[in-house]
Amino acid sequence: MQDFSEYLDFSKDLAVNAGKILSKYFGNINSIKQKSTRIDLVTNADIECENFIVKSIQNKYPDHIIIAEESTLPEKNSDFKWIIDPLDGTTNFVHNLPIFAVSIGLQYKSKTVIGVVYNPAANKLFSAKLNGGAFLNDKKIKPSSSSTLSDSLIVTGFPYLQDKRWDLSFDIFKDFYSHSQGVRRLGAAALDLCFVAMGRFEIFYEFNLKPWDICAGALIAEESGAKVTDWDGSNYPDSGQRILATNGHIHDEALSLLSNHDLNIYF
Ligand code: IPD
Ligand code: CA
Ligand code: CA
Repeated sequence: MQDFSEYLDFSKDLAVNAGKILSKYFGNINSIKQKSTRIDLVTNADIECENFIVKSIQNKYPDHIIIAEESTLPEKNSDFKWIIDPLDGTTNFVHNLPIFAVSIGLQYKSKTVIGVVYNPAANKLFSAKLNGGAFLNDKKIKPSSSSTLSDSLIVTGFPYLQDKRWDLSFDIFKDFYSHSQGVRRLGAAALDLCFVAMGRFEIFYEFNLKPWDICAGALIAEESGAKVTDWDGSNYPDSGQRILATNGHIHDEALSLLSNHDLNIYF
């Protein structure tokens, strides 16, 4: 089995240096544009940070494929694919809320092998290597031990779209809300996954995410011992279309709650 340590070290350095670019702009944003909808935003920090990450990968690994949120990059043939969100939590960033992160994932032969999520505002670096455990600033992390939904704190997010699925997502929200200790909406999916990994939340669920929102965070969650699946319990899609991450102990309860809803419209 190939050892991916070289890529882990590279990704950690890269995320910390990319985080310096975000820190430079935090509180000083001067260019905000709308993307797919009025509430889907991109700033000069997203763009400069992404350009830095992409160039650094291209310099070191010119043959690797790169998928990054804000760019369309040339198609290539390689077993290695980097999946990048230069700034997860752009809306928070624009409002000077320090809940945002750089997210860097690496897949080898379509399997995620490296995940790094860095929140520069709190200097929190989450990282994982396949079969190597999950870490926060070099300290091993694990999910919480809560064993019932009623003892759980949940985190979720809402997509930028506003259609039938969006309406139904509020029914699911109410259901989780009334069966748990509360549901939070922090606005950075990569961090939501890391917070399940370190035991702050028992459950994260969301739909209509993108590969770069979940690639790194899902590996960090799995490597911490959390369970990550699709909403029907099968393998979660890399697309980010649906994801459920729990501390493992309450996964079946969460799946059972989800199954009471008309999930067909999400699949
Ligand atoms: C967003 C965040 C948010 C989630 C959105 C994502 P962005 O990413 O992860 O938590 O609810 O669906 O698009 O746009 O800030 O990179
Ligand atoms: Ca994102
Ligand atoms: Ca982003």
